[in-house]
Amino acid sequence: MTDDKPDIRPYSPGLEGVIAAETSLGYVDGVAGRLLYRGYRIGDLVERGTFPAVANLLWTGDWRPGHRLATGPLPDAVLTALRSLPGDAKPMDALRTAVSVWGATQGLAWPPTPEQARAVTAFSPTALAAFARIRSGEDPIEPDPSLDLVPGFLYQLTGRRPDDGTARALDAYFIVGAEHGLNASTFAARVIVSTRSDIASAVCGAIGALKGPLHGGAPSEVVEQIHTVGSPERAEQWVRETLDRGERLMGFGHRVYRAYDPRAAALRKVAESLQHPPEWLALAIAVEDVALRVLAERHPERALKTNVEFYAAPVLQGVGLTPDLFPATFALARHAGWTAHVLEQAADNRLIRPDARYTGPAERDLPT
Ligand code: ACO
Repeated sequence: MTDDKPDIRPYSPGLEGVIAAETSLGYVDGVAGRLLYRGYRIGDLVERGTFPAVANLLWTGDWRPGHRLATGPLPDAVLTALRSLPGDAKPMDALRTAVSVWGATQGLAWPPTPEQARAVTAFSPTALAAFARIRSGEDPIEPDPSLDLVPGFLYQLTGRRPDDGTARALDAYFIVGAEHGLNASTFAARVIVSTRSDIASAVCGAIGALKGPLHGGAPSEVVEQIHTVGSPERAEQWVRETLDRGERLMGFGHRVYRAYDPRAAALRKVAESLQHPPEWLALAIAVEDVALRVLAERHPERALKTNVEFYAAPVLQGVGLTPDLFPATFALARHAGWTAHVLEQAADNRLIRPDARYTGPAERDLPT
């Protein structure tokens, strides 16, 4: 209370530095710039794994490189809901709606299971692809069980089976996006399931948290910023003017990383090896060089390096996705991590309920 006993317990705005869970899933080493999933380095998983194998590793702890997972079916109720959305609905809103309706059709019981985790992770790519087709006046495409999840998603989106290079590039993106410790959306999922709510509600809440530009909305803004720069000669002036206006450079800075984000390093390689990289990739690399130099000059106290979103942008555009689908595609990948955390939380559950320091008026009488 404000007047009798001051609350001297430590308060950390944004919960920065607070340990709020134990996890054996992802280890984010912000100082050294390392990311491990159940101990395995992210770079090795990208080179030797597939998204279904990585998701299975997160759910079960077993490394089975040949593990397969196809996209899942679309219940009629979800199709009806997607068709009823306004044509200009945002893909993240459509995905959140789809998962909510899907949950209502599944009779999801507590505790959440790996089968439920698999089912929602397999369902969402079908839902997003269906939404994208419906809004452009096309019919949704049924899942092809012979395709793994990522090529299956591209097939349902475009109507064409992707070539290996394209499928592999997006699969790499899904692997790096799968898990990242107790980030805001994962924390949201854990809070929701800690009340013994169901896995679909946890995923809906996580999608809502990921929708914010400070978390998952940056890659489309990266594309916009790079287009605004226009040419490498303008990079220095644009970076300085943007920072002078107090604006942020999208794709830089991170709550945890003080080093180059290892996911950005992995995706830069993928972007550079794309068969059809976006024509602005070289410009993006030039902007990155300038941005890192100017950010170091402006913020000597806080290392602001490239984050995953910067190189997610050219990979996602290079495989043919439109920028407005970027955040929702990130959400599809993060389903693996969210649901693995949901399982971990439920296995040793304690209701997540922190305290707030009260800063309002002391006890008083209502005015007469
Ligand atoms: N550009 C310019 N300045 C920045 C940037 C940036 N990208 N990021 C941080 N800063 C500055 C802030 O202005 C602040 O300076 P100040 O103290 O002079 O005001 C200082 O660095 C510290 O910033 P915070 O906001 O305290 O850092 P926080 O840990 O809260 O933020 C975040 C992390 C949100 C990612 C931030 O770096 C940011 O907004 N980046 C741009 C958006 C982005 O790329 N988001 C994707 C993140 S990756 C992901 O979610 C998957």
